[in-house]
Parts: sequence; structure tokens; C-alpha cells
Amino acid sequence: MINEYGDAVNMPKSFYITTPIYYVNASPHIGHAYTTIVADVLARYHRMIGDNTFFVTGTDEHGDKIAEAAQKAGITPQEYADKISAQFRALCPELAITNDYFIRTTDPNHIETVRYILQKVYDAGDIYFGSYGGYYCFGCERFLTEKEIVDNKCPEHGREPQYIEEKNYFFKMSKYQDWLIKHITDHPDFIRPERYKNEALAFLREPLEDLCISRPKSRLEWGITLPFDENYVTYVWFDALINYVTALDYPDGEKFKTFWPVAEHLIAKDILKPHGIYWPTMLKAAGIEPYRHLNVHGYWNSDQNKMSKSLGNIVRPLDLKDKYGLDAFRYFLLRDMVFGLDSNFSEEAFVQRLNSDLANDLGNLVSRSITMAIKYCDGKVPQIQQKDKNKALHEAALKAVAEVESSFKDMSLHKALIAIWDFINITNKYIVENEPWSLGKDPANKEKLTAIMYNLLAALRAISILLSPFMPQTAEKILRQIGVDEPQNLDMAGIRKDDDLKAGSPLTRGESLFPRINQEKESQPLEKKAPAIDLKPQIDYEEFARVDLRVAKILAAEAVPKANKLLKLKIDIGEERTIVAGVSKDYTPAELIGKKIVVVANLKPTKLMGVESHGMLLATDTDTGLTVLAFDREAKTGAKIR
Ligand code: MSP
Repeated sequence: MINEYGDAVNMPKSFYITTPIYYVNASPHIGHAYTTIVADVLARYHRMIGDNTFFVTGTDEHGDKIAEAAQKAGITPQEYADKISAQFRALCPELAITNDYFIRTTDPNHIETVRYILQKVYDAGDIYFGSYGGYYCFGCERFLTEKEIVDNKCPEHGREPQYIEEKNYFFKMSKYQDWLIKHITDHPDFIRPERYKNEALAFLREPLEDLCISRPKSRLEWGITLPFDENYVTYVWFDALINYVTALDYPDGEKFKTFWPVAEHLIAKDILKPHGIYWPTMLKAAGIEPYRHLNVHGYWNSDQNKMSKSLGNIVRPLDLKDKYGLDAFRYFLLRDMVFGLDSNFSEEAFVQRLNSDLANDLGNLVSRSITMAIKYCDGKVPQIQQKDKNKALHEAALKAVAEVESSFKDMSLHKALIAIWDFINITNKYIVENEPWSLGKDPANKEKLTAIMYNLLAALRAISILLSPFMPQTAEKILRQIGVDEPQNLDMAGIRKDDDLKAGSPLTRGESLFPRINQEKESQPLEKKAPAIDLKPQIDYEEFARVDLRVAKILAAEAVPKANKLLKLKIDIGEERTIVAGVSKDYTPAELIGKKIVVVANLKPTKLMGVESHGMLLATDTDTGLTVLAFDREAKTGAKIR
């Protein structure tokens, strides 16, 4: 029998999941972490249900952006790429990512595959040499159409695209426009959710232009040389997209035969066009079948804004993981984004979810169930009769299984978590309704109590299995507490069967899974900071010397009315000045008066809450607030700092 995807039923199915390969011009943030975690949840789930699974992530290392960033850092593009690629690679184990392969576009097998496909498309007559002028966005690494330019700027990157005219090689993308429209229409979930399919079709309503796929080496050397012209390198998107087949050893690899027909790409909306338009037409021209689905998610914003270095609101995944634990971080990202829509990251919302869903609902359920089961069943999984198994609880577990399965089919992972939490809450209710603590007072209730404990442990087992793709560490911790030795061997079928709890297995109490966070008292907000990597461009002494740093003595200090952080300081730096500093949460005026501090004296004046500030003091963030730079020995008021 053959199923809807053309797979033979009863044979293990295959599943291939990819993330975008990330540019190595900046360190990873929660946006990258999100896509990779979603891919990991999908891969773990498919492995658990017995699918032959292959999961690929990696880094995109050629092109203008990287060359530019390397130049600024004063190192070669290869050195630069090595450094940042290593950060992305190191992030995988930190986030418990189970990728089977990590691809880099500088890998020799990838370079070979790109050249092979280019030659194939060139030989088929779909690449020609021509001249083109257009507006190029270095952020998008592509030419923008007139419609895409708003107020002379690329709306995605907020910078003006640059007019570039040069002789180049072009891919006859226009030739495949009608084919692509038909393919998308005939396969309504080729690009999903629907809003992104509609966006791609809207784009295809305009005539498709041919795609410029080269850069002259005279302008950019950091790329893969065209196989048919030594003087040109490949355009970065033509290079990058091909990673998805390189990873499968295209053209002759077994993996390619097995996994390409079931390819699932996962991306955010920013790169819909290259994946929804360029890539299928490139595949068609190379004689390769299209991928199965393009799955497009929305954007994580930070405190309601797009994350950007200049706004200083970049959220680093490892900071969150270190502060709150990996599974809490994974849970929040997966629970708080509706696949396809944008979502806002705020630490308060994160802590709230942690306290309510994780500490209260799940954590309490596990800890009180285990404590009671140990107490009432002599520390072991009890044996009970079939008739004492609670049907309603088991049916609630089956309902959760069905909902989780259907959520995985259409990528609505947040719905899967909602279904699991419904089941968690039903289990909590089961405890409240049965009041085991009252039954425990009378030995005559022993049998009833034992049955309740068994049913609770069976529910915990089902919850752990359902949770395991999302929160693998937590699932394993719970399973170990209920005496399951090989958690990795469990699957959904184990929930359906319901008789797998081994009587006599030891029960052990673990540490609290999710301690409550007291937001007010304990939690210092994360520093949203630039990455701790030493890739800042080096400057020479002259450049440094342009900053006029002085020893300043604070003569007077007072709060700026209506501002909640600002103090107005009168200082002496050889002359009297007024500066405004955001330190009122950390220092009282009395603490500051008389202190000698460091001030940037030649900063352009600026008005803060109506007060003109003629300079800026220097301070550093600590775990408990700001510390103002001061001196540990004598310093002369007004003296220059060198
Ligand atoms: N190198 C290209 C992709 C080539 S794939 C053949 C690229 N790299 S990128 O580093 O800019 O990564 C973009 C991807 O990172 C997004 O599509 C998404 O997966 C993830 N995200 C980056 N910022 C994001 C958010 N703010 N929110 C959610 N995901 C985001 O484009």
C-alpha cells in the first residue's frame, strides 16, 4: 500500500529537515536558535516515531557581507568564517541540537557540488553572459526590484541599496515562471503556512527577471569560482541554496535518493524569496525534483522591536539558557510563537511562563506525584489489576497523543504543547479530586491508593514521552524518577499500550525540575549586549586619542524631575560642566558628591529630559547594577586620561 506521500506503508518512512545555513558575519541570537530548535524538535519527533531521519544545519560563508566583516576585523575571510562558524557549531550541543550533519559552504565537497550544478545548468543553456544595472542590497545579498525599495531604502535592512552595473552571468529564471506558478498551485502546501504561499504567488504575478548569479573577481574574490569562467565567482545565494543537496551527497549518494524526495526546509519569512522562487527554479533547471515543503515562520522581536545591534536589544540564546536552563528556554520559544506569525520576546513573559507552566503545573505535578508514590507504594512502581487502571486518564493521554501527532503534521508546535499541558492539568485535577493524602490516613484504602499512584505514574510516563522532543532533558529526568532505565527507547506506541510501567522499578525523588523565579527579588534582567567575541575592528592610537577622557570631580548631584534613572551632575574638569547620567537607581546624590570619575569631555552635547548634557561618565554593568569608573589612587581634577 502507498500513502499520501507515495511512501510504501509499513516501511520506515524518511524525514529530511534543514535549517537555513547562517551567515557568519554575526554571532547567533535567539532568532537563529529558534529555527534550529524547531528543526531539532521535528527531528527528535520523527526519530521517535521510527522515521529514518536526517537533520542538517550549518553556515553560509561566502559573499560581500563576510568579506566586509572580515576586512573590518582585520583578518582574512577564511579566518573570520572559521571563528564564527565555530560559534554556530558550538551552539548545537549547548542547545541539545541533534543535527546529523553540519555543513559549511567552504567545505570542499560543497564547492565541488556547486561547480557541478553550475556546469550542468550552463551546459543545458540556462546560463548566459550579459550586462545588468540595478539596486543591490548588501544586507539581502541581492538586487531589489523597484517595488521592494521604500523611501530609497531596503525595508528589511534600513540601508540604501547601491546601484551596481556590470557584466555578469545570468540564470534564465524567467523561463521557469509558469512552471513554478503551476507547481505552487498544484501543491497547495508546497509553501506553508498559506500566507507565505500567497506572498510567493503575489510575487510571481509580476514578470520574473533572470537572476544574476556571478560577481567579477575584480569586485569580490570571496566565493566559488565559476567552472566556465575563471574571472568570476558564484553569487552567494546560488552557492548557499545548493547546500541542501550537497549535504545528501548529490548527485550519486544514497542519502540523496532516500532523503531528497521528503525534503522539508525550515526558514523565517526574511528569506522566502530565495527559497520560494530562486531555489525551485534552480532545481528545475538542474533536473532535480522540487523539495517537498518550505516551512516559513515569523520573526522574534525583542521588547517590541526588531532585534538589531544598533538598538542594543539582541537576545543571546546562551545567556538565557545559562540563566534559566535549557528546557525552560526551549519551552518558551516553542510555546510562545505561533508558527508563521511574529512573536515578541520579553524576559518578563519568559519568567511568567516558567513560573506558571513549568514550576506550577509540570514541576509540582512531578514532585508531588513522586513523593506520594514513594510514600504510599514503598518506593516502587506498584502492580495493579487491569480493572483499576483509570480509563478517563488514559483516554486523556490518547487525546494528547492524537493532537500532538496532528500538530507535527502542520508544524503548529505550540498547539502540541497546549495539548500536552491540557493533559498535565487533567492529571493535576485527578490528584485533587482523589485526595490521596486523605485516603492515606486509613490503611483500609491501601488498594485504592495504590491504583491512584499507578495511574499517576502512568500519566507521568505519557507526559514525558510526549515532552521528549521538546524538552529532552526534562523528559529523561522524569522517566528516571519513575524507574524507566532506557528513556531513549520509548515512543508514542508505548503510551497507547499503557501497560509498560514495570512493577517493582525503583522510584526516586529528583531535584526540583523548575524552581520558581522570584522576578522582583532574584532576577537581574539580562544584559542585552554585543557578543563577547574579540572581533571589534582594531583602531590605531590616533583614533583612540580623538576621545577626550578627563578626570572629573563631582561638585553637585540632583535627580532630574520626572526621569526615573537620571541624575544631573555638576562637575569640574578644569572648567565647570553639567552632565546627565543614568545612575540614579545605583547611586544616591550624596554618594557621588566629591567623587572623582572618568568623563568623555568632547562628546557632542545632547538634551536628556530637558537638561543639556555636556559629556558622559563611564560606568560598567555588574550583576547588581552599574558601577561608575573611579580611581584607586590620587587623580588630578581635569587631567587627561591616556
Ligand atoms: N545565509 C542565509 C541563508 C541561506 S540558506 C540557503 C541567511 N542567513 S541568516 O544568518 O541571516 O539567517 C536567517 C535565518 O535566521 C532566518 O531565516 C531565521 O531562520 C533565523 N532568524 C534570524 N533572525 C530571526 C528572528 N529575529 N526571528 C526568527 N528567526 C530569525 O539568511
